[in-house]
Amino acid sequence: MKDYTFLIDKAKEAKKFSYAPYSNFNVGAALLASSGKVYFGCNVENSSYGLTICAERVAFFKAISDGEREFEAIAIVSDGDDCMPCGACRQIMAEFCSPDFVVVLENKTFTLGELLPHAFEL
Ligand code: THU
Repeated sequence: MKDYTFLIDKAKEAKKFSYAPYSNFNVGAALLASSGKVYFGCNVENSSYGLTICAERVAFFKAISDGEREFEAIAIVSDGDDCMPCGACRQIMAEFCSPDFVVVLENKTFTLGELLPHAFEL
């Protein structure tokens, strides 16, 4: 598989902007669109906890709202061990990406098909 170390480095850059005063759990994501452009995302928390949004979804929504519709890979980093994307983020990925979309963590790489088999779709 292709070397996505560069994308992990970009996710580390994105993590610097994490706004996580409630959990103190900083997450960064870097989403590689098929256009070649990389979109950064970080988690953004809120005092009304449920309004918090994950780094991955921020990256996706930035890209989608810029007109991107095809994606190759996303890298995700946190302060701790490999940060597995939550179920909500996996479903957002499935909306726009095929099962061979690559999810790159610092120590392991998955395909979206491995992380969300039998995804719901209309
Ligand atoms: N978080 C992410 O940004 N991405 C994940 O994949 C898992 C969790 C954030 C949400 C919240 O700000 C903090 O991590 C703790 O759950």
